[in-house]
Amino acid sequence: MNRITSFEQYQQEYKRSVETPEAFWAEQAEQFTWHKKWDNVLEWNFDEPSIKWFIGGQLNITENCLDRHLEKRGNQTALIWEPNNPEDEVRKFTYKELHSEVCRFANVLKKNGAKKGDRICIYMPMIPELTIAVLACARIGAIHSVVFGGFSFKSLSDRIHDADCNVVITSDGAYRGAKEIPLKNVIDEALLTCPSVKKVIVYKHINTEVKMESGRDVWWQDEIKNSSADCPAEIMDAEDMLFILYTSGSTGKPKGVVHTIAGYMTFVDYTFRNVFQYNDGDIFWCTADVGWITGHSYLVYGPLLAGGTTLMFEGIPTYPDAGRFWQVIDKHQVAIFYTAPTAIRSLEALGLDFVKPYKLDSLKVLGTVGEPINEFAWNWYNENIGKKKCPIVDTWWQTETGGIMISPLAGITKTKPGFATLPLPGVQPILLDEQGKELQGNNVEGRLCFKFPWPGIIRTTYQNHKRCKETYFETFKGYYFTGDACKRDEEGYYHISGRVDDVIKVSGHLLGTSEIENAIDQHPDIVESAVVGFPHEIKGWGIYAFVICEHERKDADALKKEIIETVTKNMGAIAKPDKIQVVQGLPKTRSGKIMRRILRKIAEGDLSNLGDTSTLLDPSIVEEIKKGAH
Ligand code: WTA
Repeated sequence: MNRITSFEQYQQEYKRSVETPEAFWAEQAEQFTWHKKWDNVLEWNFDEPSIKWFIGGQLNITENCLDRHLEKRGNQTALIWEPNNPEDEVRKFTYKELHSEVCRFANVLKKNGAKKGDRICIYMPMIPELTIAVLACARIGAIHSVVFGGFSFKSLSDRIHDADCNVVITSDGAYRGAKEIPLKNVIDEALLTCPSVKKVIVYKHINTEVKMESGRDVWWQDEIKNSSADCPAEIMDAEDMLFILYTSGSTGKPKGVVHTIAGYMTFVDYTFRNVFQYNDGDIFWCTADVGWITGHSYLVYGPLLAGGTTLMFEGIPTYPDAGRFWQVIDKHQVAIFYTAPTAIRSLEALGLDFVKPYKLDSLKVLGTVGEPINEFAWNWYNENIGKKKCPIVDTWWQTETGGIMISPLAGITKTKPGFATLPLPGVQPILLDEQGKELQGNNVEGRLCFKFPWPGIIRTTYQNHKRCKETYFETFKGYYFTGDACKRDEEGYYHISGRVDDVIKVSGHLLGTSEIENAIDQHPDIVESAVVGFPHEIKGWGIYAFVICEHERKDADALKKEIIETVTKNMGAIAKPDKIQVVQGLPKTRSGKIMRRILRKIAEGDLSNLGDTSTLLDPSIVEEIKKGAH
């Protein structure tokens, strides 16, 4: 398998990728199966923005994930599934088997009216059928929109609505540790406001009773019975949409990030092979849910494009006990383990007794993703899990970048605790100051931007190109702006400091403060709320909500409980506030804008230095909020 094998080669490849990006990426794309080769590698401008890769090319990504491997790897395991309960049976699929399951389900989709260009919402637990559903959509040229199973009905219906989906794929429910989550009920509630949905395909997983609406709802298991395993792949254009994935923004509703087929495929495959230094036969385990971009790129597409073996785990790190991850690593002889800093921090806090029983000697490479990893957690991971012999790749990227942008290449380039280190070939970072001036040289800190497109870059936000332009391409003209602050140290290594906008990374999940506020405001007694993040030992960031009540409530604890329930119901348990403070008013400017800077300081417990409050409509509000802070 073709990949970078030395630091010198990394440097050469990087140089080549900047000097002749088109030739560089064309070379990576050559290895794939194409129905028709591209006419032109790249056309772009960041003003509109309009970015197109491999223009004129025709292909189907599932032929590259599955069919292409059948001859050489037909009997190799493509997917291993470890269930929530360690007593339950493991399921394995060879490439041949996965290919045939995907084709069979693709035929089920067609039979139920799905066709090329349709948007299909997938709301499923972490079971093989989720991967099969994703690939089956791509097989027939439908656009998948996977919604994380932890989101509840309102978030779900917003996403189904925005993408105008006509088919939903779900299951009766999910296991999550000792709990059962009734997914189908959430779908039923969401669909009350989604008339576009004509079919719901339900996989029976936990055998709980569900309501099936006649004419709309069908069982996966019934439909698949007589479905043929012959389903020729739909021939797609390189720039046709592959999927929509919703991500939170500073304002308003989440936006549907759109990725297109050929560029995403090329970028994910290249980054997967090089960052993790994947070798034939390695068992690769990415713990992310397929509902997030990490699951799309490095649980489903990346490993399968590379002809690898991907492990999918249904459960949680602490069930039946906090040794579960390490037990699974030993059980399946995992070679590469890719997880979130939040999981590392929470397991570290529970002590080494849960790690000690396991050998962990199959591990070769460790990875982290989604948020900054502090030095302490990095060292703990390195010493106790990697036994100081596994390079740790701290991979920086975003839903919008499609794949890994800044990261060490395992064992090839240097690692540095807390640093994502160096850009991958084809990736051209630049740091700008607040005025948009380039910060040259090393030892500088600024806004992280990119000056040249890579194949996996976002193409648009679904049905709202203006929002894509405003969010990513207008802050600094001519550049893609990430929303992150970043430091380049004296050696030229990149360290990501965090977000500079109103989104918070809670346990590695990106949440918009305005989205959480909307959920809180659904409570009948709440008039207005403001949400900010505060540093949290395990979760990275916690959620602090300041709320204004319509009338005084004497039972403050009951009110807080109700607010938490409201958020869980409307958005999902991942968005539950950690702290709630009832206030009389919020610090607003004369134009009515909430001064979040002040609330952030208060939430962080830094009451001494709140900066200039003279422009506030009513500065006395701040004193009152300070008194009630916790
Ligand atoms: C943050 C996740 C520090 C960052 C793949 C980014 C990170 C946002 C890292 C995107 C990292 C991601 N170190 N911060 N290694 N990786 N981030 O869209 O703020 O869920 O902008 O994509 O996560 O989050 P998203």
